Amino acid sequence: MLPGIDRITIKLHNIFDMKSDPIYIFRKTWGTYQKVISNNLMFHREITSAVKKLLKSNPGPLNVLDLGCGDAAHISKILDPGQIAEYCGCDLSPYALDVARNNLDALGIRVNMLCRDMVAVLKEAPENHFDVVYSGYALHHLTTEEKQTFFTECRRTLRENGCVILVDVMLEEQQSRPAYLDSYNEMVATRWEALTPHERDQVQEHIRNCDFPETPTVIQTLASNAGLTTSRRLEKYTWHEAWCYLA
Ligand SMILES: C[S@@+](CC[C@H](N)C(=O)[O-])C[C@H]1O[C@@H](n2cnc3c(N)ncnc32)[C@H](O)[C@@H]1O
Repeated sequence: MLPGIDRITIKLHNIFDMKSDPIYIFRKTWGTYQKVISNNLMFHREITSAVKKLLKSNPGPLNVLDLGCGDAAHISKILDPGQIAEYCGCDLSPYALDVARNNLDALGIRVNMLCRDMVAVLKEAPENHFDVVYSGYALHHLTTEEKQTFFTECRRTLRENGCVILVDVMLEEQQSRPAYLDSYNEMVATRWEALTPHERDQVQEHIRNCDFPETPTVIQTLASNAGLTTSRRLEKYTWHEAWCYLA
């Protein structure tokens, strides 16, 4: 084999993987996203405290389903251990779930961690079971049809007075996806200095290939179609939004 050929082959495989695997960046390493969180580049701090405020009035104990939970670092900030009866988290990234298990150990609660697709997990979730279905920055990876299934299945698995808490990137009303991709990636290029240039390139590539955000109105319509007729915006920082949807 010519010198360097195997390295070129590996690079081509990586490029192919990045385009075909919507969670490539999360599957291969959790480190880049950990930097995004610790530098508050997606406003986790403000959004987490808005969600905590909402749930403060509900002493629980609550059955919580966390879809696309990542490292689950947010849960201990949002809920006190005494507020949780049961926590089920799912994510496609085994790296993220390893970190999540560690983070949740400290809470001393019963957890069920699944390395599975969130729509598949939702479809198998028991009827009338969860008080809170939480999803942070994961829904935008699904197609619009899958997002509808997400809300329909959330409604089915929620108990009376339960709620969906959705944290996600959303288009501005009237904004197109190409305009969003340009603006978001411009922000990554100019403001995400905490990442190395290589990490920024990876993030931008991920966003171009895997981000399919909707406007708040479209999301509200999908929720409403599923019978979640009351909605409330909890927080918004640029495209980063937190919403609560109730039956
Ligand atoms: C941007 S991270 C968000 C992690 C965490 N929820 C948060 O709020 O910081 C998106 C997570 O969703 C996961 N994910 C994407 N698509 C998924 C799917 N279809 N099913 C399960 N997890 C998925 C990724 O592996 C990744 O861990």
